[in-house]
Amino acid sequence: MPARPKADIDFANLAFAYQPTDVNVRYTWRDGKWDRGVETDSQTLPLHIAATCVHYGQAVFEGLKVYEAKDGRVLCFRINENAERMAHSAGTLMMEAPPVALFREAVFRVARANQRFIPPHGSGASLYVRPLLIGTGARVGVRPADEYLFLVLVTPVGPYFKQGFTPTKLVVEEEFDRAAPLGVGNAKAAGNYAAGMRATMRAREAGFGEVFYLDAREHKYVDELGAANFFGITADKHYVTPQSVSVLRSITNKSLRTLAPDLGFQVEERAVPAEELESFVEAGACGTAAVITPIESITIRGKQIVYLKDGKPGPHCTALYERLTAIQLGDAEDKYGWTEEIET
Ligand SMILES: Cc1ncc(COP(=O)(O)O)c(C=O)c1O
Repeated sequence: MPARPKADIDFANLAFAYQPTDVNVRYTWRDGKWDRGVETDSQTLPLHIAATCVHYGQAVFEGLKVYEAKDGRVLCFRINENAERMAHSAGTLMMEAPPVALFREAVFRVARANQRFIPPHGSGASLYVRPLLIGTGARVGVRPADEYLFLVLVTPVGPYFKQGFTPTKLVVEEEFDRAAPLGVGNAKAAGNYAAGMRATMRAREAGFGEVFYLDAREHKYVDELGAANFFGITADKHYVTPQSVSVLRSITNKSLRTLAPDLGFQVEERAVPAEELESFVEAGACGTAAVITPIESITIRGKQIVYLKDGKPGPHCTALYERLTAIQLGDAEDKYGWTEEIET
């Protein structure tokens, strides 16, 4: 396949940050139906001053990545999972969700229209896709909007951490909770991220990479990070990950749970008491942005549990990371059929 012309960007040195591309796509739900959508180069939104997204937080989003394979094919990873999770999030916030077919069409359309921003294979970068659904109808009383905007933007991103697959230090947060047990923690609701900012900023100021939350009801079990799921690895190769109603169902974690047995791990998805953190030989945070971030240490109730003494990723996290990224990039056999080619 002939190489496509690329945007004049230093793809190998991209940060995980927003950078403008050629177009975003926008679909409107009005009078009970979705329109055919438009492509626009505008980076702003005309928004009613009483829109429900602004006043009452009717806003959910998704995050997935598009990669260029070695042979030039453009691949996306488990897109239907993201479409279904957006529908779940939308339902949780009483919003109108784009059907799976529309979600797919929107992502393919925006990726195609921004082809020159898809980072070249081997650059370590990818095209981050951010579908966003917001209530745009005007309401002063608290109730669902009668109009929604489904927007998909893309931006080329480098690894979440500049050096790539780099360990991070976590701190367990007990003064703030991320999500209530019967709340909206398992939806990708924009408000969950605003709610977590106090804790994250405080952790960063104290020299930690991210916050690790316990279950809100008892502060007894581990839940997840601000924007990633958690897993621990035991000495006898068990991949242990929390089962909790308030955790976002990570597609990366789901994929790792499928791949782990292929690599000789036994998978346990269950409540994980905080005391068990000391028993893990390795631990990781997983999510689309970083795939796996090995956890260097977790500080809990004044005590630091150290997993990586030399600051280098451990062999288990490395094996899982390499297997998953090889599939995402089209470098390894995709026996589960997770990647899909976007015809360009
Ligand atoms: C709160 C939270 N948990 C977990 C994840 C990881 O989910 P995924 O692997 O689907 O990106 C994310 C990121 O999307 C997140 O924001």
